[in-house]
Amino acid sequence: MFTIGLLASGKGSNVQAIIDHIKTGDLSVNPGVILSDNPSSGALEIAKKEGIKHYCIPEKKYKTILSPETEKEYVKILKENRVDLICLAGFMRVIKERFLKEFAGKIINIHPSLLPAFPGLEAWKQALNYGVRFTGCTTHFVEAGVDTGPIILQAVVPVLNDDTPETLHKRIQEKEHIIYPLTVKLISAGKVSISGRKVYINN
Ligand code: GRF
Repeated sequence: MFTIGLLASGKGSNVQAIIDHIKTGDLSVNPGVILSDNPSSGALEIAKKEGIKHYCIPEKKYKTILSPETEKEYVKILKENRVDLICLAGFMRVIKERFLKEFAGKIINIHPSLLPAFPGLEAWKQALNYGVRFTGCTTHFVEAGVDTGPIILQAVVPVLNDDTPETLHKRIQEKEHIIYPLTVKLISAGKVSISGRKVYINN
């Protein structure tokens, strides 16, 4: 069965959304392994609760990347578990070339803005401060740049007059929980192809 590996650092609501879709039968993939660099990530709690194999592999040397040694451990576990797709779900480290090469075209991410607008951290705050009328979320393939890879799906969220960073982020996350499981579903069903920067969804 098509196996996914999930990498998360934070609360793990996207991990939960994907697991929920698997549990309802909407998504036919095997959640092979959940990895986190943060011992207090909610994603590890979810893994325990759902009985999914999980590992915490912290990175001691760097804040925003993985050292070659730590990276090796991630790659080893993901290979051992024969993952067909790696889903970054709030994994707060940039994936470097060597890791990307091991899983070429098999790593995806979700970002809380309509890329290419507002890459980087706290994209919902960036959108609010900029004054855009619409923002949203994007799933994309991961390449060496930060939040620059070919776009798979996007969902639009209007920015309201009385939005705070929290209210806007909450509405963006509601959409994330729809498009991330859907993205995994489309890829696992072989319905996604890439040509250059363009991603095609075939029905
Ligand atoms: C999400 O907003 C996602 O777009 C970003 O990190 C956040 C992770 O949230 N990449 P959660 O831990 O899945 O709740």
